[in-house]
Amino acid sequence: MSQFRLPENSRVQPGKSHAAPAGAKNLKTFRIYRFDPDSNQKPRVDTYEVDMDSCGPMVLDALIKIKNEVDSTLTFRRSCREGICGSCAMNIDGVNTLACTKAIGEIKGDAKIYPLPHLPVIKDLVPDLTNFYAQYASVKPWLQTRTPAPPDRERLQSKEDQEKIDRPSACILCACCSTSCPSYWWNSDRFLGPAALLAAYRWIIDTRDEATGERLDELEDPFRLYRCHTIMNCAEACPKDLNPSKAIAEIKKMIVERQH
Ligand code: SF4
Ligand code: SF4
Ligand code: FES
Repeated sequence: MSQFRLPENSRVQPGKSHAAPAGAKNLKTFRIYRFDPDSNQKPRVDTYEVDMDSCGPMVLDALIKIKNEVDSTLTFRRSCREGICGSCAMNIDGVNTLACTKAIGEIKGDAKIYPLPHLPVIKDLVPDLTNFYAQYASVKPWLQTRTPAPPDRERLQSKEDQEKIDRPSACILCACCSTSCPSYWWNSDRFLGPAALLAAYRWIIDTRDEATGERLDELEDPFRLYRCHTIMNCAEACPKDLNPSKAIAEIKKMIVERQH
């Protein structure tokens, strides 16, 4: 008989509680997903009460405070602390976003913090992005040319042409978009997802690039590109206000137009 049970590591157990230090009055509770695949234990949600009078304003400040003062085993990625590196992306209060730019004050009630959804978890809030990065690399995110560069200067571009690639170039590869996309959840092995497709678009429209045809050929595939059904979660999720959905629609249009 078929068994319709979630795998063991999908069933989250109640976890440990860490009370705030005595005397703390301005408390915020953080409920944080914990999972260590090497421990043979199921994932759990630990609860931490944080004294907000001695904590910075962002969710990342609270995570760093918990790690420094309460529980050094809590594991998460972070680097720049200013929304530039993309490494602190996680699911906060049900929304994929950057912990360093998400204000604790915007969260009503307890703050619920999980890793980015639908990715294997390496530990706690750290997802495995191997496939995500491989998909990014697969769109060859670099300038491809055949003609020799001018001998005395760089390959120049007009201001208008530069402005076309300005926004798509601002992607910080945080993966908030791809991991909020239902098509990506179910087909991440074959659908490139919004982040990689936005990167592909950035190079397709770069007027200095000379591999536009090959780039479109690579994408013209029922899965790699056409699994996008314009659900628009990706644009909603992007913490940098980018619109991968629109870029994907533009790529589809270019593929249709070149057939005529
Ligand atoms: S618009 Fe496309 S890529 Fe973006 S969330 Fe929807 S299906 Fe995914
Ligand atoms: S498009 Fe936005 S959400 Fe997606 S990876 Fe780039 S910065 Fe992150
Ligand atoms: S720590 Fe770099 S984006 Fe948050």
